[in-house]
Amino acid sequence: MTVEKGIFGNIDKNKSVEYFVLKNKSGMEAKVITLGATLVSLTAADKNGKFADVVLGYDDAASYMDNSCYFGCTVGRIANRIKDAKFKLDGREYKLTVNSGKNQLHGGIVGFGRVLWKAEPFAEGNGGQGVLFKYSSPDGEEGYPGNLDVKVTYTLTDDNELKIEYVAVTDKTTVVNLTNHSYFNLAGHNSGRDILSHQLQINSDTITESDSDLIATGKLAKVENTAYDFRKPKALGADIKKLDNGYDINYVLIKKSLAELSFTAKAVEPNSGRVMEIYTTEPGVQLYTGNFLDGIKGKGGAVYNKQTAFCLETQHYADSPNKPEFPSVVLRPGETYRHLTVHKFSVQ
Ligand code: GLA
Repeated sequence: MTVEKGIFGNIDKNKSVEYFVLKNKSGMEAKVITLGATLVSLTAADKNGKFADVVLGYDDAASYMDNSCYFGCTVGRIANRIKDAKFKLDGREYKLTVNSGKNQLHGGIVGFGRVLWKAEPFAEGNGGQGVLFKYSSPDGEEGYPGNLDVKVTYTLTDDNELKIEYVAVTDKTTVVNLTNHSYFNLAGHNSGRDILSHQLQINSDTITESDSDLIATGKLAKVENTAYDFRKPKALGADIKKLDNGYDINYVLIKKSLAELSFTAKAVEPNSGRVMEIYTTEPGVQLYTGNFLDGIKGKGGAVYNKQTAFCLETQHYADSPNKPEFPSVVLRPGETYRHLTVHKFSVQ
């Protein structure tokens, strides 16, 4: 079976954005587009076999060119906030573009989420379908050194897994920390329900502490006896009011070795019975509960308000380029950056 494809829309008058629909034998569908190598929809069955689209998104290319919330897109070169939009590498300071207060957020003004990627769809021999996206980020883009060649592969398997795999190589020493910024609501993106009754578990006992500007301080803090404790499954809403503005924090994942593919998090929506488990090779995951969503007009007339979706962005810890004590995000010529994240869907 070939991968269904077509034109999603146009940007800059003559540039077309392509879409691809990946399908599996149980009826799941994942739709991705070449703008930002973005996941625009993902259907999953509930306990009665009824499918719903569980990610937030837009219907048109122009909205994805703006996409100030980063719905579903690939984020890079560095996900999360870089304090004062600068960092030092091998004794030299690099100044980055500024797009969030004095800081850089999610790779800068354009980043990897608002550029066109080249796409090659493929159908796997043993079932499942995928798309390989490629983007060459030029030396100096958003302030980062080195020409960086990036590949992002989405695969939807017959085991109801959406796999996202990242590979990058550089010709000058640089920093890389890629993620996907999908917003999930397992009741359905247009269910009109908030995500506070979702049960969440995260395989972590430690967060990277952040200041009032959401910048990582470099300190680690235990989750025990705090609202951040998701070591055992807990409703997202159980302790959320104890925080100023919901969850927006990086968790340090418990791992045997740094790059092993390991259990990261599990979310369950009790009403529909939909379950999403996440596994990643990354050392951390950012939990963000859609605190800045405020009446965003999304797909098919849906309106997205505060805390109607959550993100679990697998990545290195926030502000790693400025925190030598954190696992390194430095990529040197001859080395290969690799990151695999698996989203597995089921019901209970
Ligand atoms: C990330 C950040 C949030 C917010 C969103 C985008 O998840 O942690 O603070 O910036 O992206 O709106």
